[in-house]
Amino acid sequence: MTVHIGARPGDIAETVLLPGDPLRARWAAETFLDQPRLVNEVRGMLGFTGTWNGRPVTIHGSGMGMPSLSIYANELIRDFGAKTLVRIGSAGAMQRHVGLRDVVLAMTASSVSTPSRSLFRELNYAPAADWGLLAAAHAAAGAEGVRTHVGGIYSSDTFYDAREDLNELLMRHGALAVEMETAELYAVAARYGCRALAVLTISDHLLTGEEMPASERERSFGDMVQIALAAAFA
Ligand code: ADE
Repeated sequence: MTVHIGARPGDIAETVLLPGDPLRARWAAETFLDQPRLVNEVRGMLGFTGTWNGRPVTIHGSGMGMPSLSIYANELIRDFGAKTLVRIGSAGAMQRHVGLRDVVLAMTASSVSTPSRSLFRELNYAPAADWGLLAAAHAAAGAEGVRTHVGGIYSSDTFYDAREDLNELLMRHGALAVEMETAELYAVAARYGCRALAVLTISDHLLTGEEMPASERERSFGDMVQIALAAAFA
């Protein structure tokens, strides 16, 4: 057991999917895994372990924002031996050619700060996805017929960002989408020599103001789970 994860040794699989929302972790585990069992519920942050095609998988909530994700990624890797971490979450589109429901695979993630920022001091560390996971996820998304984009994203500290100029700057530099977790996931994974990837579905559009209807969110989320599982075991 750790401060935030009440699992026993061996309860967590080497492959971990990380949705932000703990209730999404429950839905994904019950929908896609065989014999899912609850392995954590400390502070309501649910984690489940089961099997997919006979292979052990844990699906664990990360919470919203990099400080929360950082706690779970650190403990899952350091204390429970996780080796492959795939974030499955939503993002806001920052480019016209990226549409609602499209999938974005984050090659890298810019940020103003992350919980790992102070470690790097004057260095502008470039957090990057694991290439093997990224290539496999791209192939899996193509096989599912999902419109997919690969490129840089922005991991923001603020959902309600009053600094509109920052979003514009990132858009001008080609950022595909904004979310709030990936830069720290990639930094923590790299620190421990683990593989990481963020598979993101566009839920809203910063340029058009469109939003994905709630009724469609479950299907898009299911697509992401399948892409993440296929990539993790490719
Ligand atoms: N996640 C989904 N949409 C987002 C947005 N517009 N900003 C930050 N995180 C998001």
